[in-house]
Amino acid sequence: MNGPSSTKAWAALQDQSKKFQSSEFRLTRLFDVDSSRFDKFSVQHDKLLLDYSKNYLDDKTKSLLLDLAEQCSVPQAIRSMFAGEAINSTEDRPAHHVALRNSSLSNQQVEIENNLNRMASFISEVETGQLNGFENSSIKQVINLGIGGSDLGPAMVTAALEGFDNKKIKAYFVSNIDPSHINSTLLDLNAEETLFIISSKSFTTLETQQNALRAKRWLLESGVCSDSVSNHFIGITHNTQAAVDFGIRTENIFPIWDWVGGRYSLWSAIGLPIALSIGMDNFKELLAGARSMDEHFLKSEMAENLPVLLALLTVWYTAFFNCHSSVVAPYSQRLQLLPSYLQQLSMESLGKFVDKQGNLTQTNTGEALWGTAGSNGQHSYFQLLHQGKENIPVDFIAIAKPHASDCINQEQFEQHQHLLSNCFSQSLALMNGNDEDEHQHKRLIGNKPSNTILMNSLDPHSLGSLIALYEHKVYVQSVIWNINAFDQWGVELGKKLSKELFTAFSSAADVDKRDLDSSTSNLIKQTIDWNA
Ligand code: F6P
Repeated sequence: MNGPSSTKAWAALQDQSKKFQSSEFRLTRLFDVDSSRFDKFSVQHDKLLLDYSKNYLDDKTKSLLLDLAEQCSVPQAIRSMFAGEAINSTEDRPAHHVALRNSSLSNQQVEIENNLNRMASFISEVETGQLNGFENSSIKQVINLGIGGSDLGPAMVTAALEGFDNKKIKAYFVSNIDPSHINSTLLDLNAEETLFIISSKSFTTLETQQNALRAKRWLLESGVCSDSVSNHFIGITHNTQAAVDFGIRTENIFPIWDWVGGRYSLWSAIGLPIALSIGMDNFKELLAGARSMDEHFLKSEMAENLPVLLALLTVWYTAFFNCHSSVVAPYSQRLQLLPSYLQQLSMESLGKFVDKQGNLTQTNTGEALWGTAGSNGQHSYFQLLHQGKENIPVDFIAIAKPHASDCINQEQFEQHQHLLSNCFSQSLALMNGNDEDEHQHKRLIGNKPSNTILMNSLDPHSLGSLIALYEHKVYVQSVIWNINAFDQWGVELGKKLSKELFTAFSSAADVDKRDLDSSTSNLIKQTIDWNA
């Protein structure tokens, strides 16, 4: 495979794109001429509806995009993922997170099941007070110390599903190496009742290591005796020895297998804080929702396949409409962390300029993904979406039925309806624009594409499906672009340089002896000076 641009479909799509680039083209016209457009360009799986009708799409374009998927061997690539083949080619291992949702796909079925059982008994020990902190205090809160995939997924899901079970355990998340993050979290907490979960696949990540050491010191300073400190730590890692060396008891270490990538790991023991907050049954429902999307991804026709369709649209815009970024706007405060989570999923997976064979890619690859919860975004960055020069496709996510605890009366239910009408109005305004010709400054050109994902409700099952939808979307993009979605070598250089630069902070005089450019050395010297 030489990349998508050498396929026949690519050339045909290039040609086809001209129609949508013409000044005559109106998205609204596509609806005027075809009353069945919504039926044609929407698809539902489980309780999740994807409306992709407000896109630069007609029958011919869709068929060419599907040809592109075939010519880039997307169906085979999907089967390879489920079969546990080494699709993470640069690290020569599978990316088999689907097996965490369906253990029968794996030759480690027993280990996966055992791990779920261990998580369940651990949670019940915490809840029933069998697992205690110092002086037999019961555990009231857990603090997850982790970053990237060991933080974003669990933090996002925990926030989204808060209140799904009447758990007494509250989960906090500390990721940043900035000491203010852990300090502000620990401020009002009682050490005796606090359990730290050190979540780190490698157990070498600087931020997590530093926060774990700070946690240990805090326990000791708060009066927990040194013999009891290990009662307050759980480790989730692939590097058991490093966790033992830190002082975590072997029986308190949960595994994460090397075939689970960090940003695909919330389904593993990395999801322990989620399971502690919402209960193991709900955690299993989250897995079931993802499994349902997995089955859809594996078995549905390409033309009806949600992840494939979403991926093809992104490839279409990135390649032929010069789109460099896209927005995810969940109209749900509970999903406010979703854009940050998706940022890692998409940008750490797809930010690659070298293809699987080691050649420079011939086409654009990953785009910048950003967004915030609606309706807040409407009062900040939506101006750029409506009147900016660049086209920025949007994924709107809306939830039809509010969570009972969020809408306890008719007034609050109406507030939820305001939320939804805001969401649907934005995709309408982006598409329609206006005919304001008197005041050019007030003019909205319209013609801006968007998808809307309408969820029946925000519950563990549907959230599991939504996350798996985006995981698979990213994979399909990588297959079409012929890049490996499962490594992240780009972040290593910065880590190495930071270790070296750290030593320069000890003496201003030494900074000049280092082989540093004048910008970096002066920034360090000024910092030392202002701290003196
Ligand atoms: O530096 C990037 C990264 O490796 C991510 O891919 C990963 O999710 C994160 O750091 C945390 O890694 P770990 O779980 O090994 O601490």
